[in-house]
Amino acid sequence: MLTAVEFFSGIGGFAEACRETNIEIVQSFDQDEAANFVYEQNFKVRPNSRNLDSIRLGNIAPADLWWLSPPCTPYTVRGLRKDLSDSRSQSLVNLISIIPNALPSHIVVENVLGFKGSEAEQLMLKTLRQCNYAVTDFTLCPSQFSKPAQRPRYFLIGSKQKVAANGVSESKRQTLNNYLSKDVVDQLLLEPHVVRRYSEAMNIIDIRDTELPTTTSICFTSNYGKCLRGSGSFLKISADEVRRFAPAEILNLLGFPKFFSLPDSISLSKQWKLVGNSLDIDCVRYILRAL
Ligand SMILES: C[S@@+](CC[C@H](N)C(=O)[O-])C[C@H]1O[C@@H](n2cnc3c(N)ncnc32)[C@H](O)[C@@H]1O
Repeated sequence: MLTAVEFFSGIGGFAEACRETNIEIVQSFDQDEAANFVYEQNFKVRPNSRNLDSIRLGNIAPADLWWLSPPCTPYTVRGLRKDLSDSRSQSLVNLISIIPNALPSHIVVENVLGFKGSEAEQLMLKTLRQCNYAVTDFTLCPSQFSKPAQRPRYFLIGSKQKVAANGVSESKRQTLNNYLSKDVVDQLLLEPHVVRRYSEAMNIIDIRDTELPTTTSICFTSNYGKCLRGSGSFLKISADEVRRFAPAEILNLLGFPKFFSLPDSISLSKQWKLVGNSLDIDCVRYILRAL
């Protein structure tokens, strides 16, 4: 049995990956109340909503593993890559400062590829080395696990033990159709004039296309409900209809089980934001197997 603290838990991508494993989550933290509501509905525990910018060691339960999925905006082009000068990196800086006194056996940071080489990563690496952790990193994408989706993510692991990862054995790619729902609600359809105007900038997948078995969706981000460009794929379902993916379909692609639910009381745009922030379960399980 391994105990874990989940920082920046969101809707619980890490907790979902831990379901039916020998990992017990002893504490989780997120300041977003809607994310905590989804988490509670699915895991029967409500995460602690305190701000991690200023948390102290005494407020953190002892655990073997720290899982951190901090905000990625400071390391993205869209977020202007302000890195440590972005106030959203303060929570990570604070947690890094606590590591020398907490010394969990394993620490994993999950983030966008822009985190690699950032000042924040340099600070983390310096601390891990000063505290005698062995450091390994992985870049993983659900497309490596036969899924028709792109979501490359960087995983930095500090461990007091040797980390042994097996290769990824890619089997035949699943087709997107397997992840889509048959019932399309009107709210998902885009207005025809919007499609006419922005289709060049959008990633539109024609589900009637013979190439569909080899097509992958682009990464769904937390901006999907708001932005048409670079925030995720759209589906052309008939000659004149293009729709968004439903939040449940994005969860499907991320590897969440069918019984994972998003409360109806949470608006569609907030649901897109929450699922766009989450994790690919297969990628997390790969990391957990390596520990
Ligand atoms: C990239 S998302 C991680 C989502 C999560 N991995 C999941 O599966 O849904 C980052 C999360 O950190 C939370 N967060 C950001 N800054 C925070 C802070 N200072 N204190 C606590 N939570 C914070 C956000 O509310 C968001 O849910």
